[in-house]
Amino acid sequence: SWTTGNVIEEQVAAIRAQVGDKRAICGLSGGVDSAVAAALVQKAIGSQLTCVYVDHGLMRKNETEQVEKDFVAATGANLKVVDAQERFLDALAGVSDPETKRKIIGREFIRVFEQAQLEILQEEGPEVAFLVQGTLYPDIVESGGGTGTANIKSHHNVGGLPDDIEFELVEPLRQLFKDEVRMVGQELGLPEEIVQRQPFPGPGLGIRIVGEVTKERLDLLREADAIAREELTAAGLDRDIWQCPVVLLADVRSVGVQGDGRTYGHPIVLRPVSSEDAMTADWSRLPYDVLARISTRITNEVADVNRVVLDVTSKPPGTIEWE
Ligand code: XMP
Repeated sequence: SWTTGNVIEEQVAAIRAQVGDKRAICGLSGGVDSAVAAALVQKAIGSQLTCVYVDHGLMRKNETEQVEKDFVAATGANLKVVDAQERFLDALAGVSDPETKRKIIGREFIRVFEQAQLEILQEEGPEVAFLVQGTLYPDIVESGGGTGTANIKSHHNVGGLPDDIEFELVEPLRQLFKDEVRMVGQELGLPEEIVQRQPFPGPGLGIRIVGEVTKERLDLLREADAIAREELTAAGLDRDIWQCPVVLLADVRSVGVQGDGRTYGHPIVLRPVSSEDAMTADWSRLPYDVLARISTRITNEVADVNRVVLDVTSKPPGTIEWE
């Protein structure tokens, strides 16, 4: 019968058989799937695994610390953190178009991750032959099945490595659905904040700032988002909503009044949605008192924000994210 204990036991044996005495790399995104995949592989092969986390500066408050501290504490994994915040900010400077932002973030991410892989290969030698991925069963069904190998190309052939290095994929979650992955993660002792995390887009807060992405705007949005998340959690609403994007309309200002005088600040949009699979969604009818607390706190505690608005659009016609 299906138990998380059986799944873990089976996968640990399968990973050991596949990897042998070679070494593996796993990219962590901060999300559930990569964290659980890494924790399983760590349990199977221990220090033969190296995890990589690219800090692009577009994460929400405390998410990077959750990976750097809590994930490592829970698993004992060997983690390489690449601080690429400046690089992403530079690449995004002056860009407002949503698709262009997405392309830049995706491109920079791959470059930084490949560079990290090359460094690990140089440090650890040719025994590094496997790449761990948190592919789930629904991902495989959607893409038509099949296992594969991942290619990385070395752009400048560091240290005389071959031009193309092929990694064999390790995909220990291939037979699991999302809720099963969460159960396995819990059983492996991963922190609640990681295991129960709601969906969050790869491009992060970069696509939740309508307008140009700057360090100041990211910091402001991080504060507003942290308040919204805190209040939703305190109200016990995390399981009721699919996710709640918090969006900064950086190019919009409106007049307000606060304390002694007139303000001219930015609006923050709350986008709480309920959904089964993110293909369609409805706006969540959150209790007014929770919305009121979030609004009061954000306008009081976040400088330059003088208005909080609620998005009451379903998907379609709106998407869940604003960009
Ligand atoms: P939309 O905005 O298209 O979002 O209704 C549907 C779901 O996908 C998430 N999302 C992303 N996830 N990379 C991701 O990993 C992305 O580029 C991306 N864009 C949107 C979004 O948060 C929602 O859950």
